[in-house]
Amino acid sequence: MSNNPLFRPFPLKGLTLPNRIVMAPMTRSFSPAGQPGANVAEYYRKRAAGGVGLIITEGTAVERVGAANDPNVPHFFGSALDGWGQVVKAVHGESGLIAPQLWHVGALPNRRSPKGEEAESPTGHYMPGKTNGRAMTDADVADAIAAFARAAGDAMRLGFDAVELHGAHGYLIDQFFWGATNTRSDRWGGDTLPLRARFAVELLKAVRAAVGPDFPVIIRLSQWKQQDFAFRLAPTPDEMAAWLGPLADAGADVFHCSQRRFWEPEYPELDGPEGLNFAGWAKKLTGKPTITVGSVGLTGEFVAGMGGESSKPASLDGLLARLERDEFDLVGVGRALIVDPDWALKVRDGRHGELTDYTTESLMTLV
Ligand SMILES: Cc1cc2nc3c(=O)[nH]c(=O)nc-3n(C[C@H](O)[C@H](O)[C@H](O)COP(=O)(O)O)c2cc1C
Repeated sequence: MSNNPLFRPFPLKGLTLPNRIVMAPMTRSFSPAGQPGANVAEYYRKRAAGGVGLIITEGTAVERVGAANDPNVPHFFGSALDGWGQVVKAVHGESGLIAPQLWHVGALPNRRSPKGEEAESPTGHYMPGKTNGRAMTDADVADAIAAFARAAGDAMRLGFDAVELHGAHGYLIDQFFWGATNTRSDRWGGDTLPLRARFAVELLKAVRAAVGPDFPVIIRLSQWKQQDFAFRLAPTPDEMAAWLGPLADAGADVFHCSQRRFWEPEYPELDGPEGLNFAGWAKKLTGKPTITVGSVGLTGEFVAGMGGESSKPASLDGLLARLERDEFDLVGVGRALIVDPDWALKVRDGRHGELTDYTTESLMTLV
């Protein structure tokens, strides 16, 4: 048992995570035509060998036209499952644990994403007044839910240790949560967040039914979205409780609470500038384990990083103090693990001088 709280084991249902470090899901686009190959297996193997407690894969598309926004994003259906089986084998060969992040981008466009009839979302909007694609019918919604559930069942069958649903950052599930993109008046919409959360609730129930009671199900959520960094789905703790409670009841075991900077308090008006972050409030309100994430061990945040800003290694002291007081249970680490598969081992052994900067160039190769 280490004095460093990052290196204390954590029980999650039948699993024991050897430490609190979770590799954050990061799209790498190295799977041509959606097929993850040997290079992808090797990439995840190295992070397992490098001491990551739980790897969450890059977002991987469920079987629904328009789920992926890039032909090089891996699928999680059909022949791609063979490639994922090899990923699991490689990670387990290093005694690592791994969960796929199941993803559907909805109507959110980028240069390579689905357009027109291929793109689907609650109302065809991806932000207020902006449309791309079409509004989902009841049959589309049912098929999308079934696609997530099938993928979760496949994850379990392939030997993955858990599964994560991507409910954050303005993609499909979040497009249902957000009142600006979900103005439906049927059972998938409504005036309140709990009503608009019904899609996620039904999705979680279907996933839970597919994997049974013992398989850990994680849902990733964010208050912010790419379309609006300042937005808060739940502006008060009561609203957060009304959002997360039904998700927990429907089968979510862990809330992965995405922030761009983990140290930012969620409700500073209530507990001050050093107050609980999103993962802190989610844990307090639901009693469920939570994962924090956002600029851990780095000076700059990831959206600016996408725009070319580099980041330097930063102190972990503030993070460790919060972890020590159990504000959250697990810690997502993103870019630091892109540039250095051995980040966890170096932190464990106090080799801070060996930690490297993050630059956008590191996205060009899979190391
Ligand atoms: C290259 C890149 C790709 C990303 N892809 C995803 C993704 O597929 N799914 C997701 O939920 N978040 C994604 N993110 C966000 C990360 O999971 C993480 O929340 C973010 O990078 C903040 O953590 P960091 O500051 O430690 O990098 C991505 C981030 C980066 C840098």
